Amino acid sequence: MPLPDSHPLLSADTANSPLIRAYRGQRGDRLPIWFMRQAGRSLPEYRELRVGNAMLDACLTPELASEITLQPVRRHAVDAAIFFSDIVIPVKLAGVGVEIVPGRGPVIEHPIRTAADVAALRPLDPAALAPIREAVAATVAQLGSTPLIGFAGAPFTLASYLVEGGPSKDQIRARTLVYSDPHTWAALLNWCADVTGEFLRAQVEAGASAAQLFDSWVGSLSEANYVRRVAPHSKRALDHLRGYDVPKVHFGVGSGEVLRAMHSIGADAMGVDWRIPLDEADRRLGGGVPLQGNIDPALLAAPWSVLESHVRDVVDRGRAAPAHVVNLGHGVPPETDPDVLTRIVELVHSLG
Ligand code: CP3
Repeated sequence: MPLPDSHPLLSADTANSPLIRAYRGQRGDRLPIWFMRQAGRSLPEYRELRVGNAMLDACLTPELASEITLQPVRRHAVDAAIFFSDIVIPVKLAGVGVEIVPGRGPVIEHPIRTAADVAALRPLDPAALAPIREAVAATVAQLGSTPLIGFAGAPFTLASYLVEGGPSKDQIRARTLVYSDPHTWAALLNWCADVTGEFLRAQVEAGASAAQLFDSWVGSLSEANYVRRVAPHSKRALDHLRGYDVPKVHFGVGSGEVLRAMHSIGADAMGVDWRIPLDEADRRLGGGVPLQGNIDPALLAAPWSVLESHVRDVVDRGRAAPAHVVNLGHGVPPETDPDVLTRIVELVHSLG
């Protein structure tokens, strides 16, 4: 399918932006920065818009999703917008009962645990993605030269919520299913890969300039288990972007043991959490991979002098990699003072 004229990769603007250049391994005059969960409860303007709108309803209302996506770009002058949505949106659009309980996270009405549960899952009707396409197109039209990052949850993280029925400490039911019923596990992960892959592709088709796959809970897996039972499905999710020349970023929490394996599914750049320094991540990846990260979110509430030296250290260690996109090691905690985020952006831009 030909790309529409408005596709940002056809506009020299976002293709030459500091973010997209860094994801492609090129260093320029400006060190790009954005924050995972930059749109959200740390912003008073977000809390105001969310009054009376349930989280997933807000995600599916194009004007709201677009406005919330733009808020942190206006406020912090970050180098990217990330589409305001949630990893469970494609699951919901495929007909699974799910809601986001404030302070807790996604809760599944009927957890998926048996072969029959998996067999009953329906594919995602592409028409259901219309609100996503509409919100992305409206956002990109307003962003100008600032790129929009599309995102999706990786199959393992999605399956963890589906099997557990909600957030869990160590994904133990999901990890048991891997061994107790490998066929059901594989069928569930394939389903997740396809719904999440379609969600990601819809964002790219509508104008996102990069794509990030979040495997947030990958840190609970051994490397052997990840490589055998999870990575092929994550690759299948990214394969939905075949033919689209957008950089692909892969991120997980606690991913130190599986960084290399996560990169090998077809990622161009790797997001790193706060547990390992970026020079060590570069070493584990064998060099040559653009990195994103990894300011410790816990330090956002520390005195500025402490936070500042940590940010400088992150930037220094990031110089080991061919290119660096500064970010947090995980999402912005809701209680964060947004002025601190703006100050970090100014600091990072002054460091070049
Ligand atoms: O700014 C951005 O980063 C874009 C928006 C975004 C949201 N969710 C909005 C959101 C992104 C990229 C996500 C992805 C997401 N959702 C992930 C992967 C990233 C990660 O954090 O590891 C995961 C695991 C989820 C599932 C999820 N959704 C959780 C664990 C929660 C937190 C529950 C809570 O209330 O603290 C959510 C809800 C959610 N997603 C919120 C936002 C802004 C908070 C809901 C609210 O504001 O009421």
